Amino acid sequence: MECFGYEWNVYRDWGWVKKVPPQARLEAWGSLMEDAETAFSAKTLLTEDDLVGKVVLDAGCGNGRYAFQAAKKAQRVVAFDITCSVDVAKANTDACENIHVVQADLLGPPFRPESFDTIFSIGVLGFTLDAEVAFDSLSRLLRPGGVVAVQFSHRGNVVFELMDNAIRRLSSRLSVGQLMRFAAFMAGIGKVMHGLRIARYANLILRVQPTRHHMFDWYSAARIDRRSYDDVFSWFERRGLEVIAHGKRDSTAARYLRAIVFPWALVVKGRKPVP
Ligand SMILES: C[S@@+](CC[C@H](N)C(=O)[O-])C[C@H]1O[C@@H](n2cnc3c(N)ncnc32)[C@H](O)[C@@H]1O
Repeated sequence: MECFGYEWNVYRDWGWVKKVPPQARLEAWGSLMEDAETAFSAKTLLTEDDLVGKVVLDAGCGNGRYAFQAAKKAQRVVAFDITCSVDVAKANTDACENIHVVQADLLGPPFRPESFDTIFSIGVLGFTLDAEVAFDSLSRLLRPGGVVAVQFSHRGNVVFELMDNAIRRLSSRLSVGQLMRFAAFMAGIGKVMHGLRIARYANLILRVQPTRHHMFDWYSAARIDRRSYDDVFSWFERRGLEVIAHGKRDSTAARYLRAIVFPWALVVKGRKPVP
């Protein structure tokens, strides 16, 4: 877990960058403030109605980039993370009076039940031992009528998962410095794939991106709890939550393709009914 603390200290301005020189475009891919804005909507499916005037929770906030996006509309955002990345998140959002940053564990969050109107968690649940237990913890914090959106690792592409697990078994044993060098190596492959315009095909079997940051983030954890859309739908159902938006496609062919082409993330948003 300390890799994440290190990551967000190194990449403290990721998602806050205003401009990138053309020669650094690939290495900085996804670091712009406008990238964070677009990614926030895509990774949470949250709408204006879910944010304006609401008390919002960002579970696993990293450097605070998405808490900042939510806070543009929300009444108040509470952002927490288990690592020292909270120091970075706090420094990044210090000027925003409606953001409060807390160091806490998703599995034992220090908040009263039903205290948030909107909860989101981006790229976090898969890093816990059991993503459903983590989801359960979040769902208890949601007030009736509120919405919860989770984005994390998608299960469905067997070849990709076998390759990914094998690499993780090795990469997670590296020291932080070695992992950074490994990430630079993978990003080098990513840049070549990108240049040859075959990155999207390579990603059918192996996660390669041109950014060292993404590669460090991706390969730091020893294991990932991946789930299918149907798994996650059943979590919502078991807790009496209604799924109101998701990233799953309807036709079987498209669903299959999506599992292959986007093996790394799913997104589901649901509402807790008012009794
Ligand atoms: C891939 S990063 C995503 C950060 C942020 N949501 C974003 O997308 O920029 C995963 C984050 O989850 C945090 N995390 C992992 N397990 C956690 C837990 N049990 N409680 C709180 N945070 C956790 C890590 O420290 C890390 O900052």
